[in-house]
Amino acid sequence: MKHIGKARAYTNIALIKYWGKKDEQLILPMNSSLSLTLDAFYTETEVTFDPALSQDCFYLNDRLQNKEQTKKISKFLTIFRNKYSISHYASVDSRNFVPTAAGLASSASGLAALAGACSAALSLELSPQELSKLARRGSGSACRSIFGGFAEWRKGDSDDTSFAVQVPASSWENELSMLFILVNDTQKDVSSRDGMKRTVDTSIFYQGWLTGAADDLELAKQAIAENNFSALGEVAESNALRMHGTTLGAVPPFTYWSPDSLKAMNLVRSCRMRGIPCYFTMDAGPNVKVLVQKKDQEKLYHFFSEHFNEKQLILANTGPGLEILKPERLMDND
Ligand code: ADP
Ligand code: DP6
Repeated sequence: MKHIGKARAYTNIALIKYWGKKDEQLILPMNSSLSLTLDAFYTETEVTFDPALSQDCFYLNDRLQNKEQTKKISKFLTIFRNKYSISHYASVDSRNFVPTAAGLASSASGLAALAGACSAALSLELSPQELSKLARRGSGSACRSIFGGFAEWRKGDSDDTSFAVQVPASSWENELSMLFILVNDTQKDVSSRDGMKRTVDTSIFYQGWLTGAADDLELAKQAIAENNFSALGEVAESNALRMHGTTLGAVPPFTYWSPDSLKAMNLVRSCRMRGIPCYFTMDAGPNVKVLVQKKDQEKLYHFFSEHFNEKQLILANTGPGLEILKPERLMDND
């Protein structure tokens, strides 16, 4: 019998970054992190565990993926197969409504959607915590995309203790927005996975990052508890700068910044000087994301539209958690 499931997950952007693993197999992070899930970018994935298949196959945006990409997916499916005693291979059909591997968190929405689809296919009815642990095994940041709004990934020290939880923010999170400035949405040279590994292994700044990240997380949680926008923005911006600082101390050194990233960061500072509170963050890619209060999003958009074209600017609001969808293929019993 075939088992089919489908799910949608939204990307999340970390305000306190996950940067570095202490266990690469289990994907246990060196530091805890905190993110905001957003509604503009997401992934929908349908999984079919099928007794007729002789290997796993992975389609992304209707294209059959190469061996390397399929191997990553197979590894993830095997975690499900071993844990939930199913032997069938699977066909994975995924659609990214987000540029892939461009520093816009496709790995977060992609692997969270895959975890949700596998769970739905096997009718597992897992708790958000269990789903978060499973999504983490595919890509660390994916464990936060199980939740809408603010999520904290508590680093833990084992497979069972490392997962994300919802950060209570009443309705405040709905007053926040993010402006994505797409400096470049093509595939980046150094993936998050490789970038963080090189940094942990070689950067003389890495220890400093770790010391600061723990304090930053506490400041961010306090700011959320107090609905204090400027405190949250300030700690998010400085945390992102520190993360990116570690790449310059790596061997060989590297950076995700491009001249346009710097231009965007400087514009965020000028916007603040003009009285619009807003703060930037950046991930493993040149694109800049600007945290702003919803009430100021139009003003911010207008300001940036004088410097970047319409296609480069995308406004997002706070997004929901994992959604289970009705599969498109009909179930049959062959
Ligand atoms: P990003 O900034 O987009 O998260 P990463 O380099 O961290 O970039 O991750 C990109 C990788 O995530 C892809 O190479 C692929 O392995 C995986 N990925 C992206 N989208 C999907 C998807 N829809 N389903 C499964 N895996 C995905
Ligand atoms: C800079 O979750 O993509 O976006 O666990 O190796 O798949 P893997 O890495 P990934 O890394 C995300 C890094 C980041 C910061 C963050 O999202 O916290």
